[in-house]
Amino acid sequence: MAGSRPVSAWTLFLSLLVLIGCIVVPGLTVKHENFKTCAQSGFCKRNRALADDASAQGTSWSSPYELDSSTLQFKDGQLTGILIKTTTANEKLRLPITVSFLESGSARVIVDEEKRMKGDIEIRHNSKVNKKRYDETEKWVLMGGLEASKSAALNAEAEAGFTKVQYGPGDKFQAIIRHAPFEVEFQRDGQTHVQLNHQGLLNMEHWRPKVDKEGDNDSGEDESTWWEESFGGNTDSKPRGPESVGIDVTFPGYSHVFGIPEHADSLSLRETRGGPGNHENPYRMYNSDVFEYELNSPMTLYGAIPFMQAHRKNSTVGVFWLNAAETWVDIVKKPASSNPLSLSGSSKTNTQTHWFSEAGRIDLFVFLGPSPQEISKTYGQLTGYTQLPQHFAIAYHQCRWNYITDEDVKDVDAKFDKYQIPYDVIWLDLDYTDDRKYFTWDPLTFPNPKGMQEKLDESERKLVVLIDPHIKNKDDYYVSKELNSKGLAVQNKDGDVYDGWCWPGSSHWVDCFNPAAFTWWNSLHKYDKFQGSLSNLFIWNDMNEPSVFNGPETTMPKDNIHYGDWEHRDIHNVNGITLVNATYQALLERKKGEVRRPFILTRSYYAGAQRMSAMWTGDNQATWDHLAISLPMVLTNGIAGFPFAGADVGGFFHNPDKELLSRWYQAGIWYPFFRAHAHIDTRRREPYLISEPHRTIISQAIRLRYQLLPAWYTAFHEASINGTPIVRPQYYEFPDDEEGFAIDDQLYLGNTGLLAKPVVTENTFTTDIYISDGEKYYDYFDYTVYQGAGKKHTVPAPEDKIPLLIQGGHVIPRRDRPRRSSALMRWDPYTLILTLNKNGEADGTLYVDDGETFDYERGGYIHRQFQFRDSILSSEDLGTKGPKTAEYLKTMAGVTVERVVVVDPPKAWKDKSTVTVIEDGAKTASTSSLEYFEQQGSKASYAVVKSPNVGIGKSWRIEF
Ligand code: NOJ
Repeated sequence: MAGSRPVSAWTLFLSLLVLIGCIVVPGLTVKHENFKTCAQSGFCKRNRALADDASAQGTSWSSPYELDSSTLQFKDGQLTGILIKTTTANEKLRLPITVSFLESGSARVIVDEEKRMKGDIEIRHNSKVNKKRYDETEKWVLMGGLEASKSAALNAEAEAGFTKVQYGPGDKFQAIIRHAPFEVEFQRDGQTHVQLNHQGLLNMEHWRPKVDKEGDNDSGEDESTWWEESFGGNTDSKPRGPESVGIDVTFPGYSHVFGIPEHADSLSLRETRGGPGNHENPYRMYNSDVFEYELNSPMTLYGAIPFMQAHRKNSTVGVFWLNAAETWVDIVKKPASSNPLSLSGSSKTNTQTHWFSEAGRIDLFVFLGPSPQEISKTYGQLTGYTQLPQHFAIAYHQCRWNYITDEDVKDVDAKFDKYQIPYDVIWLDLDYTDDRKYFTWDPLTFPNPKGMQEKLDESERKLVVLIDPHIKNKDDYYVSKELNSKGLAVQNKDGDVYDGWCWPGSSHWVDCFNPAAFTWWNSLHKYDKFQGSLSNLFIWNDMNEPSVFNGPETTMPKDNIHYGDWEHRDIHNVNGITLVNATYQALLERKKGEVRRPFILTRSYYAGAQRMSAMWTGDNQATWDHLAISLPMVLTNGIAGFPFAGADVGGFFHNPDKELLSRWYQAGIWYPFFRAHAHIDTRRREPYLISEPHRTIISQAIRLRYQLLPAWYTAFHEASINGTPIVRPQYYEFPDDEEGFAIDDQLYLGNTGLLAKPVVTENTFTTDIYISDGEKYYDYFDYTVYQGAGKKHTVPAPEDKIPLLIQGGHVIPRRDRPRRSSALMRWDPYTLILTLNKNGEADGTLYVDDGETFDYERGGYIHRQFQFRDSILSSEDLGTKGPKTAEYLKTMAGVTVERVVVVDPPKAWKDKSTVTVIEDGAKTASTSSLEYFEQQGSKASYAVVKSPNVGIGKSWRIEF
């Protein structure tokens, strides 16, 4: 063989080693051949080709879309008109456009196709599918924030060919709409932040009849993927032909973009047009059951939220692409100097993004910030905020596939108690059912489900069971019979019940787009229907992408038909949340008069899912890399408005060694959704089974989560009213520190000032924590001080230690008495930890309610503001009162603050031995003891107020 070299014995030996390695530890990688790359997806290829064309033509490229000025009207905060697309054959197509300016400060651009709105098209293959472009995504996703701006007004000084609209808070925003070629520029304070169609990539593939061509009458366009498209042995019949929509969105002066989950990738999104460190494919959003997913990849995963934040020093803006069809996003970063509009901002980069979906309308929201908090708030007004979960849901969840009998469940429950490890929820995967028929119990292994739930209830623990949307196709299964007799299943392209393969074998899928299916699904969850279920049972909706083992890309064919004659293509990405929606309603209605907050875990999601559920990152692996990627994945979800997120602690596939498992628990306590889970083929790994010292390390981690539950619940509450992430990345907390923008391996818990940096690499016993500001940061456990802005600080991280700092200036509420479950901590007293900032001040909040009902909506809660100023710690009421306030306060009357710890107090306190305590309503002031603990070296001293015993729901002052 030309050029071949003699093979040395050493090379042979090495090759043998590699071979053995491959046999012993099979490498797990995704089956790429099961999922499309952009080049294998017709509309992705076409939209990219358009971008390539535009870029090749440079300044001579002109978008073929223009606004017909004569059609424009502005009324009630809304600009309407007709956009004209001129085709290569010089046809003029009419595309109605609406630009709405909303009271919330966001703007919405909708473009539809007139012919399709009128139903003036023909559908191929005698298909009954809807002729319109899908316009109902908002029905599932939006829940408010659409009120038209009252102050939005046309700017009379616009030059000819332009329309300008002033809007937003203080009229600081302006949309400049150029008619020909069509472009929209969004300005804040006179500076451009977002540009639509600046690159000229607007594309609405209009409806056209299929012409069977004879001979060489080619139009010059590549029609190879227009009419039928095959992949992996499946052919998509595309009865409406090509119909994709796309547009470019440029963020001038912005070098970081975040969001658009779900991808196993960094927080700061990468470029996608190749080159070192970049992706080759766009970020894809097409909810899928991606088996053994790979890391650092733009491949699609189980959920999709097409919401992106762009960030530069002191400015955040965002866009939300409301489209439920398969979507891809290309990202390219260009030097800002190449842009004539070069900005004075610090970033010299323009980030150009290109969004395209296979079907539906263009429906795009633009947010102009300027802070990440404002973006979260405005976006949340549209899609809703995180539902305040039941309190148990934010504690520790113990899951595996599968706890095999009801006795097994009781045994696990007892062992947690024996080893004094708190937990709140135990989970049953798939195999609790009778032959994978949901809403049933295996009579041999779960003969006494009620007894099991009653046992759990003794410690106020809960049970979560898995209910999937595929229904076993079996005549003697009542759920299947009802599904089919009522005609509530998804249909195939010919209008027959769609039959696919999933866990139970041949299955049918409930079509929750159908209101009747919704009602029926509710009925299945009632206690008399789902027999054996008690009120401490909650639901896990898995496989709802939907996962179909024998379907194209492991999901449903796109030409399947849903209620309303919509194609699966139109609705794919919201399919999962329709099930969650129905389950949510079902849990609300299990029994008349029993109204509690539902808890649902969903694998598939879309924007809006945060109102109803928690999510997790699906089938990860027990490797260090998977542990590491879980942090940016959870952070990204928070940025995209769905912060109740977590990853399988320990890794789903394979067996973690003790070090990895312990580190995973130490990281997992920082996931808002904290659940251990494992594949059926893995060894049992409940924390009490792990030998020492790791059992203690894991127990301590879980206990830390329980200790901080008051701070967690407060952060959840904030998310539920402001949309803020529960755990936050560096840029979100320090939006003006450019060094921190790409950091995604450390996180802040709400606004508590707690900064955690979990160890995610093997054999690592120190870690570097980046600090943005000049405040002192204190080690959570021993108060070692770290100070110095804009640099990394090395923090010890032996195996039993979680690197965790507290920024100076905070009051952190916690509960220090270990209990079996979080519910049993309900009446426990609080400890307040204070760290003082440079001015000797501290602030913090606490939110508490019954953790179960909706009474909080009627004032049944405590919301306190703690302040430390001029040597006085005070607690003031933050809540608005309601009819349930007095009743709730009464139940909490005996709950007090049992300890106050002040870290790094003034030296003068050494000589003090008491503080004065003044509680509102008390006849006299009292005193409590103050003890000063001097520490040496880099460790800060601290002082402890013992038993001030002030009521947690009361106003009070402690004077030092
Ligand atoms: C897939 C889920 O991702 C996994 O967590 C679960 O254990 C299996 N389905 C079995 O139900």
